[in-house]
Amino acid sequence: MSTLNTSMQGKICMVTGANSGVGKATALGLAQMGATVIMVCRDRARGEEAQSEIKNKSGNNAVDLLLADLSSQQSIRQLVENFQQNYTQLHVLINNAGVVMLSRKATVDGLETTFAVNYLAPFLLTNLLLDILKNSAPARIVNVSSESHQSGYIKINDLQAKDNYKIMNAYGQSKLALVMFTYELARRLQGTGVTANCLHPGFTATNIGQSGVGLVARPLVKFIFRFGISPEEGAKTSIYLASSPDVEGVTGKYFVNSMPKESAPISYSESLQRQLWEKSAKLVNLPESV
Ligand SMILES: NC(=O)c1ccc[n+]([C@@H]2O[C@H](COP(=O)([O-])OP(=O)(O)OC[C@H]3O[C@@H](n4cnc5c(N)ncnc54)[C@H](OP(=O)(O)O)[C@@H]3O)[C@@H](O)[C@H]2O)c1
Repeated sequence: MSTLNTSMQGKICMVTGANSGVGKATALGLAQMGATVIMVCRDRARGEEAQSEIKNKSGNNAVDLLLADLSSQQSIRQLVENFQQNYTQLHVLINNAGVVMLSRKATVDGLETTFAVNYLAPFLLTNLLLDILKNSAPARIVNVSSESHQSGYIKINDLQAKDNYKIMNAYGQSKLALVMFTYELARRLQGTGVTANCLHPGFTATNIGQSGVGLVARPLVKFIFRFGISPEEGAKTSIYLASSPDVEGVTGKYFVNSMPKESAPISYSESLQRQLWEKSAKLVNLPESV
């Protein structure tokens, strides 16, 4: 049954990792509000299945699918080219895709996968889309982080965990880096009409962890995550930050349960934010300034 309303009519929203869990529920929520939704997924079959489910449930046909493997910088650049062939505006970018990796695995670019997908992909994708976001202002960037960032730390000289890979250290670092990127980005975007905020969706029953842990640990991960909130609940803060008039103009904040919350003390270090930005720009071959 269609549940379409019109509060996001005319808004173009991109959601990464939109075929599963929090991302799929976010894409559905925005489609139900009348937005044009661009789903970014890495697998065509999984993407198309979710796309038709979202169209059916929302009654909104303006749900597009673009394919990209966010662990590959070339694929992210191709995604932006494909997007620009069809769209001249973007009002909301939700960097939602994420992974948990049991063991260290290098991407095609030779980077550690958790760092590359959870942090560097949002860094590159956002930077490549900044001009179009600015031209579409008011526009919003929403980064899906995690409370796990609280125990994370930035190993500025070993961002790729070459020395000693630990699953939750890699995840925590990637999510802390995403929070710090959000704060630095918000500062750089002051006066442009583009806001940047980040969030923790809550402990949510999704597929997270399953593709990264291998066949033996997969049932255990699946069992643990059964105790989480529903993806629809988990998507609420992303949808709030993407759409609510309450947060028009609000920028550079971390949200939990649709409320601003203090993030880890280290996340507010502007010198570390800057260092991280500079290192990241080099890793993705971008000029340092936006
Ligand atoms: N679930 C939680 O309790 C929880 C808590 C805190 C934060 N988060 C964060 O919430 C976000 C959404 O996760 P989720 O819980 O909804 O997990 P999920 O169901 O596993 O969804 C993750 C999405 O990211 C996509 N993805 C992963 N690697 C990709 C790549 N290389 N290229 C393109 N897409 C890729 C996945 O695609 P495939 O389906 O093809 O794998 C999937 O669509 C993540 O950033 C996660 O870290 C989740």
